[in-house]
Amino acid sequence: MSDSIETVRTVQDLRRIVEGWQASGKTVALVPTMGALHTGHLSLVELAKTKADKAVVSVFVNPTQFAPHEDLERYPRDEAGDMKKLATVATDLVWSPSVEEMYPGGFSTGVKAGSAASDLEGAFRPQHFDGVATVCCKLFNQVRPSIAIFGEKDYQQLAVLRQMVKDLNIPVTLVAAPTKREASGLALSSRNAYLSDAERAAAPALFAAISDVAERVAGGTAITVATVSAVETLRAAGFTKVDYVEIRDAETLAPAAGANRPLRVLAAAWLGKTRLIDNVAVQTPA
Ligand code: PAF
Repeated sequence: MSDSIETVRTVQDLRRIVEGWQASGKTVALVPTMGALHTGHLSLVELAKTKADKAVVSVFVNPTQFAPHEDLERYPRDEAGDMKKLATVATDLVWSPSVEEMYPGGFSTGVKAGSAASDLEGAFRPQHFDGVATVCCKLFNQVRPSIAIFGEKDYQQLAVLRQMVKDLNIPVTLVAAPTKREASGLALSSRNAYLSDAERAAAPALFAAISDVAERVAGGTAITVATVSAVETLRAAGFTKVDYVEIRDAETLAPAAGANRPLRVLAAAWLGKTRLIDNVAVQTPA
């Protein structure tokens, strides 16, 4: 297997290659990433290869989705390592534009994310989803894939992008891929690289706590009882701050209401300077 994948850095080169594929009848799936790839990302590429003839992976640390106080500068970057990993899953092309190529001088148009962005992550990261929606809209227009794959780890991101694609009639089908986890239950995330040994040991408590909420709510415990006790469990486990543990409608992310609707537990909590997010489904009896 070759470990040199074609990497393109200009929209012009990207278009030439992808249009060539499409002219010969090949379908294209896009896997948008910010690099610092782990096996969760690679599983998205593997899924892409089952859904389309060609898999394009974008690697772009998007500045517009970081607030000034956030971790843009320290966000992990490892292009050489990423390329080696992408070669193991038969990636066809890596789209890795510079910030100037993505946002040339004079750039001033953006997508305002819809109602799915209004709270949860949106409450703690006010401009975040506008930045995600804008860059994904650009990526869809640049690559023009028929399919784009996103991990369920960023569950609200997926809801926001589904809403954008529907509201703006963007001709792409979004495919959700289940979250990959360590044996401990910790969701794979590029940000796990920030954790100290002690924080890493505490981190699996997040998945354990939200899984417990999901189980208790499925078993009839009141939502607030389950979520309040999860916050206490997380604090006891060493989480320094809990932004939220919430149960929402799995499709709209509106507050859980009414029976027979699929539900999702979503949480965000801090271990020192690192903010972790995770989510799980509430399994309803068959
Ligand atoms: O999930 C991510 O890594 C990013 O938010 C995305 C979708 C690549 C947009 O920058």
